Amino acid sequence: MSRLIIVSNRVAPISEGGPAAGGLAVGVYDALKETGGMWFGWSGEVLSSTPPHIDVVERGPVTFATIGLVRRDYDQYYRGFSNATLWPAFHYRADLIQYDRHDFEGYCRVNAWLAQQLVPLLREDDVIWVHDYHLIPFAQALRAAGVKNRLGFFLHIPFPAPQVLLSVPPHRALVEALCSFDLLGFQTVPDLRAFCEYVVHEAGGQVEAGADKAPTLVHAFGRTLRAQAYPIGVYPDEIAQLAKAGTRGKPARTMKATLHERKLIMSVDRLDYSKGLVERFRAFERLLDQVPAYRNHVSFVQIAPPTRADMHAYQDIRLRLESESGRINGRFAELDWTPIRYIHRQYERQVLAALFRQSHVGYVTPLRDGMNLVAKEYVSAQDPDDPGVLVLSRFAGAAQELTGALIVNPIDIDGMADALAQGLAMPLAERRARYRDMIAQLRENNVSVWRDNFLRDLKDGEGTAKRRA
Ligand code: G6P
Repeated sequence: MSRLIIVSNRVAPISEGGPAAGGLAVGVYDALKETGGMWFGWSGEVLSSTPPHIDVVERGPVTFATIGLVRRDYDQYYRGFSNATLWPAFHYRADLIQYDRHDFEGYCRVNAWLAQQLVPLLREDDVIWVHDYHLIPFAQALRAAGVKNRLGFFLHIPFPAPQVLLSVPPHRALVEALCSFDLLGFQTVPDLRAFCEYVVHEAGGQVEAGADKAPTLVHAFGRTLRAQAYPIGVYPDEIAQLAKAGTRGKPARTMKATLHERKLIMSVDRLDYSKGLVERFRAFERLLDQVPAYRNHVSFVQIAPPTRADMHAYQDIRLRLESESGRINGRFAELDWTPIRYIHRQYERQVLAALFRQSHVGYVTPLRDGMNLVAKEYVSAQDPDDPGVLVLSRFAGAAQELTGALIVNPIDIDGMADALAQGLAMPLAERRARYRDMIAQLRENNVSVWRDNFLRDLKDGEGTAKRRA
């Protein structure tokens, strides 16, 4: 049987048996722990002098192979081109894009170097599945090193409309590099469509819709490959169990005690400017302005663990958020009530699941998001007899599937305040009906389905190619 080799920049923490936050690490870990295989990527360490070497650790069915980055590589490949250029561009924040040609060279150099490190670990029939925007040139690099295995790529973040992608100076080189994979996976149909539009209108390529849900055939840059939308999922029943167990734990009991019967609105996001946190805080403020009955009767808890904290744009959003929460709390707080509890740290997955289950509204309003697994985890964690309401941004990939949520536009402050009021007052029968609709969807498209569909199409493609040859 062929092995599954996962390659991603960020690898789930090896020692703790699974990550707590960050869509990619959570989803990929869940997918890999069932099939077994190898996970190759950055160790998270930045080394000042010693040349990096691969660390191989076996944990049950998964082999983790990780490697450090030297400072210059970290700066150019990770902080620079991946996170100062691609991240804002792919999240439609052309205003935040920073570009330096040397960073792009570093990005390509590190991709080639990582590929060379992986080659000696590979076997002939391994299937290689590369994840996310840090590793767009990875297939080109492996092919240049003589690797002939099947190569798939999944993009966890949005694929931008061509007009936005054009702001990234080496846009053509990036799309050409993507076309070296055998199969490309996107989170949603709009992402797939944006990619196809670029291929047709900017690269002079052609696309052919696949018959009967089969992937789209893409002809571009002298190659033929396949592309499809594979929305990533979760394991809803596992999360429900975790949530149930978590409600007996100390953090959940403390939360309950300090709420004193008040209603709870819950949000969890990495502290990223793509998450729409400032707008979200203002919409909560608008709710308190417009419905005074909620003052001292509802609490909003925002857990926002730090991320990429050595980058200016992230320091800036943190300051803005801290100033907004301070201002709003200053306006409305009473001796026994803090309207917004903003917490800048990470919690375990079980604690988060329990808090989701205790809350009345899950408030998930990114300005752009590839999928947003928090939305799916929120629904999964609910008590089927008394479920909370999901308020969800239309710009999260999850909104394509979770149509039982209250869908909002995250820049419409009044609209979001209305949705919060509607969610807090929603009758039980409607909450149950919406929950049933969403949980059925999550069960049908869980993380194994996501993985199996992608790998089936990656392997099927090989059959097609061989039959044609
Ligand atoms: C998003 C990206 C992932 C990334 C994660 C955490 O989910 O899609 O690729 O790993 O954010 O960000 P970080 O920069 O800490 O890896």
